[in-house]
Amino acid sequence: MQDKPSSTLTIPETGAVPRHIAIIMDGNGRWAKSRFLPRVAGHKRGVETVREVVKSCASLGVQFLTLFAFSSENWRRPPDEVSFLMQLFARALEQEVARLDDNGIRLRIIGDRSRFEPRLQELIGDAEARTAGNDRLCLTIAANYGGRWDILQAANHMLEERPELVVTGFTENDLSPYLSMQYAPEPDLFIRTGGERRVSNFLLWQLAYTELYFTDTLWPDFDGKALQQAIESYRQRERRFGRTSDQLLIQTGEPTKAASA
Ligand code: IPE
Ligand code: IPE
Ligand code: MG
Repeated sequence: MQDKPSSTLTIPETGAVPRHIAIIMDGNGRWAKSRFLPRVAGHKRGVETVREVVKSCASLGVQFLTLFAFSSENWRRPPDEVSFLMQLFARALEQEVARLDDNGIRLRIIGDRSRFEPRLQELIGDAEARTAGNDRLCLTIAANYGGRWDILQAANHMLEERPELVVTGFTENDLSPYLSMQYAPEPDLFIRTGGERRVSNFLLWQLAYTELYFTDTLWPDFDGKALQQAIESYRQRERRFGRTSDQLLIQTGEPTKAASA
C-alpha cells in the first residue's frame, strides 16, 4: 500500500486510530463573549486548547494533526483582531517550538505566507527547520490558507514546471504533488468545533472521503475527552469509498467499522 494513497484512485487502509485528523478550531469569539470578555481573550485561551489537543494526539499515536488557524477570508475581520491574531501566532511560535521539538513533533505551516510580516515569515521558517527531523507527530498549522487558493497555486506551479500539460491535459497524479499537504495522507477525520456545519474553504481537495464530525463545543472548551468522543464517533463509521456494505463484508469477513478495518 502506498504511503499516501489517493481516496479516489485507490482504497486507503483505515485503522482504529485516525492517521490524520484535521480540525477547524471555531468558537473562540463566542466563548469570550459568553464570559463578557473581548473576542481576543477567546483566541488566547484557544492556544491552550491547541497544546492539550497536540499532546493527546501524540499520545494516541495520531501521525498528522492539521489545525485551521486563519483562513484566507479571515482578513475581512476588524484590523485589531487580525493584528492580535498575527501577534498571537508569532508569540506561540516563539514560545512553543522548543517544547514541540523536545517532544519529537514536526511543525509545518501551510497557506500563503507571503502576506505575513517578514518577522513572522522568519519565525515560521525557523520553526520548520528546527523540527524538520522529528517524526512522532506532524503538526500542520493552516494560516492564510484557503482550499481554493491551494488548488489554484498547485495548478499554477504544475503548469509552470510542466507547460506541456496545457496541451495533453493533466491527471490527479500530476496535480497532487503540488498541493500544500502532499506530504500527508488525506485526513481520516475532520472535526469542527463551535456548532457550524460547514467547511469554510478548508482542505477542499483532501476532504473527498474524510469522515466529518461536528460538535457544538466551543474550541476553548474542547479537551482530550472531547477528542476521544470524536474518535469514538469515527470508529462507528463504515468507510466504503464508493463500495457497498456487502462488498466490504466479503473482503474482510467482518463488518468494517473503522475500528475493525
Ligand atoms: C475561530 O474562532 C478562530 C479564528 C477564526 C481565527 P472565531 O474567532 O471564529 O470564533 P467565533 O466563531 O466568532 O465564535
Ligand atoms: C473558519 O472559521 C476558519 C478558522 C477556524 C481559522 P470562521 O469562523 O472564519 O468561519 P465562518 O466565517 O464562520 O465560516
Ligand atoms: Mg468562527
